[in-house]
Amino acid sequence: MLLVSSLLFLVTFPTVLAQLPLPSPPYTPPSPDQGTHPSNASTPNSQWSTLLGNLLYFYDEQRSGKLPSNERVSWRNDSALDDGSDVGLDLSGGYYDAGDYVKYAFPLSFTLMSICWGALDAGQGYEAANQTAYLDDMLRWGLDWLIKAHPSPNTLFVQVGDGNLDNAYWGGDRFIPAPRPSYQINNTSPGTDAAAQASAAFAACSSLYSNRTLSSSSSALTLTNDSYASTLHSHARDLYTFATNATGGMQTYQTAVPQSADAYASSGYSDELAIAALFLSLADSGANASAYYSDAASWYFSGNLEQQLVAGDETVFNWDSKTPGIAVLAAQLTAANPDLVSGSNATLKVWQSAVEGYFDAIVNGTGRSYLTQGLRKVYFYQARMRID
Ligand SMILES: *[C@@H]1O[C@H](CO)[C@@H](O)[C@H](O)[C@H]1NC(C)=O
Ligand SMILES: *[C@@H]1O[C@H](CO)[C@@H](O)[C@H](O)[C@H]1NC(C)=O
Ligand SMILES: *[C@@H]1O[C@H](CO)[C@@H](O)[C@H](O)[C@H]1NC(C)=O
Ligand SMILES: *[C@@H]1O[C@H](CO)[C@@H](O)[C@H](O)[C@H]1NC(C)=O
Ligand SMILES: *[C@@H]1O[C@H](CO)[C@@H](O)[C@H](O)[C@H]1NC(C)=O
Ligand SMILES: *[C@@H]1O[C@H](CO)[C@@H](O)[C@H](O)[C@H]1NC(C)=O
Ligand SMILES: *[C@@H]1O[C@H](CO)[C@@H](O)[C@H](O)[C@H]1NC(C)=O
Ligand SMILES: *[C@@H]1O[C@H](CO)[C@@H](O)[C@H](O)[C@H]1NC(C)=O
Ligand SMILES: *[C@@H]1O[C@H](CO)[C@@H](O)[C@H](O)[C@H]1NC(C)=O
Ligand SMILES: *[C@@H]1O[C@H](CO)[C@@H](O)[C@H](O)[C@H]1NC(C)=O
Repeated sequence: MLLVSSLLFLVTFPTVLAQLPLPSPPYTPPSPDQGTHPSNASTPNSQWSTLLGNLLYFYDEQRSGKLPSNERVSWRNDSALDDGSDVGLDLSGGYYDAGDYVKYAFPLSFTLMSICWGALDAGQGYEAANQTAYLDDMLRWGLDWLIKAHPSPNTLFVQVGDGNLDNAYWGGDRFIPAPRPSYQINNTSPGTDAAAQASAAFAACSSLYSNRTLSSSSSALTLTNDSYASTLHSHARDLYTFATNATGGMQTYQTAVPQSADAYASSGYSDELAIAALFLSLADSGANASAYYSDAASWYFSGNLEQQLVAGDETVFNWDSKTPGIAVLAAQLTAANPDLVSGSNATLKVWQSAVEGYFDAIVNGTGRSYLTQGLRKVYFYQARMRID
């Protein structure tokens, strides 16, 4: 359809020459090869350090609340300062979800967990790109809000703002429509996935701030702050207990808060429980760490998550679906600390073969995703349906 209309356009209208002469030699984008030059500690590949800088700048653009005097984005203003007033709390701050002004804890927690995991894995990259201070700033803007959204062990605010009212508004940050209601999960109306995912974010980021390492390679060392790490750790522990032991049992968070269902309905909670337990095992030590690890293996097997890594059934790693990340993280943790396994049948070998099978299927085209011309383009199921 698109092709037909462009052809018609070509036939109907004569080519118009540019009014200004085109420069010679012409501007062309940098060769893709430039992205493959390896970085080193003294000179990072500028394409990647620019990307990292742009990525963190994006989060400055998405800030909600009272902006600090060193806010980098000149066109943003203070906004939604009364969030939480309907429940007698200060829930201002944090990040807006997307092109709108609703705040959602479930996808935010996935984002914070992933960024902390990346920094645990490749912290030297932030250092080499001079981005560690921005990383700290970005993480704290999200984590400090998530701390406010978790005012007691069994209460977590999962949404602030009315999705329908907000999506009907197409404007700037000075006239955001009110009311902006606050929605919670709690002991009697739990949300297993959202509580576990927030626990995973706190545990991953606590590990980063306490200078844990996933391997001998790297960590963003200048971030270390033991008191902040310990605050994050205690939120992580409480949220895991809330997720597993709420008197209301286990259920998806949109069962308690149907208002979140349109935007971010969760498809299950075994994956969040497993990844939370894995990050808690990294944040803890000794017998505590092994106990969390063994919990993670139980959630993985009882949730039949292995199947989500098998060619043909393989799933994506995203805000709703963490299984590929579980196997990769578990392989990293058990390779770095073999003591974790202590008698469990979930050995490094089990994770390694699950992970290798998953990526083999992507690379060799036997799964739902495939590889083209040496460029790792992973078209996951939904994208593929749209293309087909
Ligand atoms: C680091 O990378 C830059 C750019 O690729 C290169 O010029 C420089 O020689 C490398 N330095 C070291 C110590 O490898
Ligand atoms: C990082 O900062 C150092 C010291 O100011 C500077 O020499 C270096 O070029 C910077 N690196 C990048 C990638 O901006
Ligand atoms: C912030 O306020 C200024 C006016 O002070 C306005 O021009 C700008 O559009 C506002 N930014 C947004 C994102 O609405
Ligand atoms: C617990 O959460 C449910 C669902 O959001 C809510 O309806 C209920 O009012 C909350 N309970 C308390 C005590 O706030
Ligand atoms: C962080 O850990 C590394 C080793 O893993 C160590 O070399 C470094 O000194 C530690 N940094 C701080 C600030 O504790
Ligand atoms: C560590 O984090 C706490 C809590 O955010 C903060 O008050 C303190 O200034 C930080 N310490 C350092 C050395 O950055
Ligand atoms: C959940 O409750 C059981 C039974 O009281 C207890 O043994 C277990 O430690 C609790 N789990 C967590 C994560 O607190
Ligand atoms: C194990 O966890 C408990 C809290 O759940 C803590 O009090 C204790 O210090 C931890 N033990 C170790 C060895 O870290
Ligand atoms: C490990 O044991 C659990 C049951 O405890 C079982 O479901 C799972 O299939 C076993 N996994 C492997 C790799 O042996
Ligand atoms: C592709 O990878 C899958 C998963 O490891 C494997 O089962 C299959 O045999 C491989 N197929 C080819 C053609 O290499």
